[in-house]
Amino acid sequence: LAIEGSGFTSRTRDDVQYFDHSLFLIDEHGIIQSVLEPDDERYQAERAQAQERGIYHAIAEGSYLLPGFIDLHVHAPQWAQDGTGLDEPLEVWLGKYTFPTEAKFADEAFAHKVYEDLVSRMLSTGTTTASYYATVDRKGSLVLAQEAVRLGQRALVGKVVMDDPEANPEYYRDASAQAAIEETERFIEEVAELSQSSVQGVYPVITPRFIPSCTDEALRGLGELAAHYHDVAYIQTHCSESDWEHGYAYERYGKSDTHMLHEFGLLTDRSILAHSVYLSEEDMEVYAQTGAVAVHCPLSNAFFAGSVAPIRRYLDAGMHVAIGSDISGGYNPDLYGAIRQAVTSSRMLETGVNRDLAAGERGVANSALTLNNAFYVATAGGGESLGLPIGRLEAGYAWDAQVVDTKFPSARLPIFEDNEPTSDIFQKIVNLAVPENIRTVWVQGREVVSK
Ligand code: GUN
Ligand code: FE
Repeated sequence: LAIEGSGFTSRTRDDVQYFDHSLFLIDEHGIIQSVLEPDDERYQAERAQAQERGIYHAIAEGSYLLPGFIDLHVHAPQWAQDGTGLDEPLEVWLGKYTFPTEAKFADEAFAHKVYEDLVSRMLSTGTTTASYYATVDRKGSLVLAQEAVRLGQRALVGKVVMDDPEANPEYYRDASAQAAIEETERFIEEVAELSQSSVQGVYPVITPRFIPSCTDEALRGLGELAAHYHDVAYIQTHCSESDWEHGYAYERYGKSDTHMLHEFGLLTDRSILAHSVYLSEEDMEVYAQTGAVAVHCPLSNAFFAGSVAPIRRYLDAGMHVAIGSDISGGYNPDLYGAIRQAVTSSRMLETGVNRDLAAGERGVANSALTLNNAFYVATAGGGESLGLPIGRLEAGYAWDAQVVDTKFPSARLPIFEDNEPTSDIFQKIVNLAVPENIRTVWVQGREVVSK
């Protein structure tokens, strides 16, 4: 595959690079072999050769390439209840809306219907990699992994563990700690096997829902699995999400949930920790030293967290940070929405929301994220945190990309001059694009969306 086009990719946390009519040469494994600029001596010859072989594709003027987005926190079954129930606090919402919804996914036909729709929807808005919670039911969870493989999305998928009979309803929980651990191990083996037949990869994830829904026995057993399957499986859970959840760990253990996850062997360089709002300096150090990633879910946090996660501070502390939609705690399934909300929330943290305080005393200085910061977190940052060559349009990376058509008739972006600065075009795309603007999406060199 040889693709010629202009577009944007993160260079650092602060800088986005514009490339102008670059020629991307992509090998049969979907990896970018080289990126040639128009003044490169090989450019004309490579382009002519690709045209001859019928593998050349030019991105139209007014359309721009971006790396595919990486959504590291999605509850796939909650797509069925998306947009509802957000007027309750987290601990009420779980029992009243979420557990009844998730219990339905033991029905594999229903699971198939919802998962197919969600994965297609996410791909069509440019999300090329996602880390999913499925449900407690192993077989229903496998349907999600199969759908991602079939539709071409790179997915990380977890069978959810919630075994504590005191904390979870009888109709929706693991039969016992032992059963939860065995089912998780079986799921890891099944997904690893499925991955063999996929071009883009599908990865098993050890998924204790969060500390309040698990017994110590289950957490310890999952920690042992995490060590045993270190190179095969990721780990995901919720950490320090809300006042209630953060306080819960202190009450049960006298320690933070970060500390306890670490002690159980669940906080490693493979850990994907949703929310991470209430981290202490000490917790932040554990993240930075292990290489675990904090997944920022800014829209969901506006409903459930009771605070804005200090992402600028996390980045400055050298932590990995990624972004998540948190469907359906956040109702927006596309990461354009999450990027915008990350910037908006950070600005409110910086300037403050309580007008009864004096100017200068309302907010937290140095909290604002730039659009470039948020774009980095949604692309290159997510890729780095997973240790995978994704999230950048550079040699050596997978060809996971989206084409944004700024001139699409029903969704034209306000670009009126021929010589608009490219940095303005970038900002207009990230702030204003709607799903109609996204015309083509590739994952690992395979075209998965074409509108
Ligand atoms: N904590 C435990 N389960 C959940 C969930 O499904 N969504 C969110 N946002 N937080 C959780
Ligand atoms: Fe969540």
